[in-house]
Amino acid sequence: MRGNASALFRATFGGAPRAAASAPGRVNLIGEHTDYNGGPVLPVAYAARTYVAVGPGEPGILEMVSTREEQVARIDYRAGRLAGWGAYVAGVMRELVALGAAPLAGGARVAVASDVPVAAGLASSAALTVAAAKALSLLAGARLQARQLAGVAFRAEHDHVGVRCGIMDQMSAALARPGRALLLECASLAVRHIPIGGRLLLVDSGLRRELAAGALNERRAECEAAVARLKLELPELRWLASWPAAWLPRLKRALPEPLRSRALHVVGETARVRFGAQLLARRHLKRFGELLYESHESCRQLYDCSTPELDTIVAAARRAGALGARLTGAGWGGAVLVLLGGKGEAKVTREIRRSFRAAYGREPAIDVVHPSGGVRREPVR
Ligand code: GLA
Repeated sequence: MRGNASALFRATFGGAPRAAASAPGRVNLIGEHTDYNGGPVLPVAYAARTYVAVGPGEPGILEMVSTREEQVARIDYRAGRLAGWGAYVAGVMRELVALGAAPLAGGARVAVASDVPVAAGLASSAALTVAAAKALSLLAGARLQARQLAGVAFRAEHDHVGVRCGIMDQMSAALARPGRALLLECASLAVRHIPIGGRLLLVDSGLRRELAAGALNERRAECEAAVARLKLELPELRWLASWPAAWLPRLKRALPEPLRSRALHVVGETARVRFGAQLLARRHLKRFGELLYESHESCRQLYDCSTPELDTIVAAARRAGALGARLTGAGWGGAVLVLLGGKGEAKVTREIRRSFRAAYGREPAIDVVHPSGGVRREPVR
């Protein structure tokens, strides 16, 4: 895909690009729906990446082309409400303008080539926005740090596109390191890179949920409603994830359903991530794997973001002896992460294929996850 962005740029716009960059998708090991609640997450960067090649354009105008769309999109990124995939790049441009890091004439031509699947829970939008932020800022001659790129990408999606996501995906796409998981505390933005043991598989249910953004926004509103009520118990509470784990009885009394279930997930998941990061660092993979199963159960029962397809995959992995398995990403479709020890891979994949086929008449795609590195400059060809 690397060369494709440059080749697509040349074929579409008739000259060479001036700058290029790439950023990865992500697979979250544990810590689902904790980021926008001020809790910790533990993602790795997926080896699949999005490549963006750019060159100067007309002032105020973005001309964009992608290997996934036939048409060249041409938009005035300064005007009004944005829609479609181009909205993500337009949001990035607006944020770069605000930082004084946009190309001088304020316009650009952009070619995108990606092998990160869309709407599969693998953060394809963050791969696009982080890579675009890097490429466009390079075109402007600006050198933004990885965290600044994550900020530009986050605000593009959150403020301009209107998906009320947290900061996990953008920070992972910007800061991830090969062979490491990124422990990110989303309230302080403190990070630690933790070496990964074991073998990771990604099982894609094939279920694509365009509705995920709507469901995510709804969950986020529920979490905010829970915080508003819990503040009457603990006035200094700012983040749901900061509710003391020892005070669960009080939390249960204070909240009606479904807010109670949502809050229990967030508080429990927060504890699991912090404990899980310690286990991973000490190579206690077996206990770490159990936390993955617990996390899936919590996502399913309390946060209500799983689907029968994802549950089928997790149950099959467990039966076949995988150390752990859970849905990864927002949920409501997408993929399951499976953690394996030294052996048993063939048995686990066989059982997953068999039971998924028995239930749904088709087989899920299974891929090995090789934790890779974050955003980088790419050569221009
Ligand atoms: C989506 C959001 C992330 C995070 C996950 C759930 O991927 O973009 O910020 O909230 O869902 O953990």
